Amino acid sequence: MNEHDSEIMAGMLTDEGFIQVDSRKDADIAIINTCSIRDNADKRFFGTLGQLKRRKKENPEFTVCVCGCMMQQQHVIDTIKAKYPWVDIIFGTHNIHKLPELLANIVAEKGKQIDVWPEGGEIVEGLPCKRLFESKALVNIMFGCNNFCTYCIVPYTRGRERSRKPSDIVNEVRNLVADGVKEIMLLGQNVNSYKGMEAGSEEVIDFAELIYMLNEIDGLERIRFMTSHPKDLSDRLIQAFVDCDKLCKNVHLPVQSGSSRVLKAMNRRYDKEKYLDLVGKLKAVVPGITMSTDIIVGFPGETEEDFEETLDLVRQVEYDSAFTFLYSIRKGTPAEKYEDQIPEDVKHERFNRLVDLINSISAEKNAAYVGRVEKVLVEGPSKTNSKTYTGRTDGFKLVNFQGTPEMVGQIVDVKITEGKTFSLEGQVI
Ligand code: 5AD
Ligand code: SF4
Repeated sequence: MNEHDSEIMAGMLTDEGFIQVDSRKDADIAIINTCSIRDNADKRFFGTLGQLKRRKKENPEFTVCVCGCMMQQQHVIDTIKAKYPWVDIIFGTHNIHKLPELLANIVAEKGKQIDVWPEGGEIVEGLPCKRLFESKALVNIMFGCNNFCTYCIVPYTRGRERSRKPSDIVNEVRNLVADGVKEIMLLGQNVNSYKGMEAGSEEVIDFAELIYMLNEIDGLERIRFMTSHPKDLSDRLIQAFVDCDKLCKNVHLPVQSGSSRVLKAMNRRYDKEKYLDLVGKLKAVVPGITMSTDIIVGFPGETEEDFEETLDLVRQVEYDSAFTFLYSIRKGTPAEKYEDQIPEDVKHERFNRLVDLINSISAEKNAAYVGRVEKVLVEGPSKTNSKTYTGRTDGFKLVNFQGTPEMVGQIVDVKITEGKTFSLEGQVI
């Protein structure tokens, strides 16, 4: 979501005549869009600010803007004011549309601009966007989160759930397709609680219905979504995987822990059994579906037995991939106050065991792709070798192959020749 916000900011500034530069040393304005999900993101932000201090000293005209989730927390604003008073613009997650105005105020020498809204106002439609990829687009369908998982800062930084109108989403996707987009990623903290309503209508369009609507758009080839909360993934959505040919057979379903006791303490509102039932249903109704997840290791009170429940769940689900995180205390969340925090060495030791297990399953799953022909949407040349191109399969597997510039943005057939832990190798046929 932050990445998409950055695309929008880049779009607004491009429309205003600003030029994006590749290297920080060539910039007159720096914008830092912050993440707050774990402590290391916070630390990197203050590290980057420290680096910019010298630029600001050398050239007082150099403008520094900071925004994103961290700015929605008063203690962060207080720290910036006290330790980095030379920051020019501070704004939050609810008013990124104001960036051009705030910059104009700086140019007009109106002084430091601090504009952070505690809650989101009306959803602002029609903002420009400078996409990272020509053929793939991120599309917000809703903002905010009402779930209050006890470890998570997001409900405090992104506010309460608000859904965009279905017609606004459909129009945006039609325009994206006209602009060359083949794949969309629908974004929401929990897309399953999407509640779309048109002005003046009582009818509620749910997430599954929205997928059916988008599946009708000519020229669109692939629909993905993230993230989906297991507690309210509906049977209708599972059916949409069967009925909607454009909906990619891949789901990111964060489990967070395999221990029902820990899940309760996390306020996730499902248990291990219910999660495994859901996975069983998905696999039965959507053969070949690929799955990924998020797991937190070392939540307060997690015992060795709890952790083994997580390992057991991972073995049962056989995820294609997983994002694993060390639990990180977030100021203002309920879990901050939990007494039985887990020592760092125990967290790391469990984390390593979990990553080893996940990697061995990923490698095994990827090896099974050898000999298969996969449809790959080509993203571009790899960063390290200009002849090696990368793209994604319908199931979101990363594929490397020898390609040519004309293939970028096309869907090509690739025969898989090797399965690695994090990617597949193949040849275009
Ligand atoms: N500590 C560690 N991981 C966290 N996540 C969210 N909050 C925390 C935290 N305090 C993880 C969850 C979530 C992902 C986006 O980040 O796994 O699904
Ligand atoms: Fe955070 Fe839970 Fe909301 Fe996800 S569902 S954003 S983990 S509070």
